[in-house]
Amino acid sequence: MRGLVNAAVIGAAIAAVLAARVAGARAAEADLIDAGRDLYGDMCAACHGRDMVNAGGIAFDLRKFPSDDLSRFRNSVLNGKNQAMPPWRDKLTEEDIAALWAYVRSGG
Ligand code: HEC
Repeated sequence: MRGLVNAAVIGAAIAAVLAARVAGARAAEADLIDAGRDLYGDMCAACHGRDMVNAGGIAFDLRKFPSDDLSRFRNSVLNGKNQAMPPWRDKLTEEDIAALWAYVRSGG
């Protein structure tokens, strides 16, 4: 009997730890999105539109960027694209790119 009670207590403890981890991961993701939103406002919004709402110019509508294509995102952001999208290689850290990617994937 004692064994069963212990198992239940341990099970509940594990469930609590796992729930806290999931909440922590969500909070971390939210922080990343917020950081990306700030960077975006400073560096990208002029062309891509405030809150990613495309101003209708030639800049890509980032709300339509494929959310599973990080390598394309990295490549375009680091190296630029055609003449119009500038390269950001010297201006962004890996953390910046991760934050921008989280923001773009969040849809704004
Ligand atoms: C000077 C204007 C300008 C700025 C600033 C700018 N972009 Fe762009 N961006 C463009 C244009 C124009 C395109 C479309 C390029 C094309 O397809 O010819 C583009 C395209 C893109 C694409 C899609 C490329 C692809 O794979 O098709 C991504 C992703 C992107 N920009 C991200 C960003 C991010 C992130 C920032 C801020 C760090 C940023 N851009 C800042 C003009 C800009």
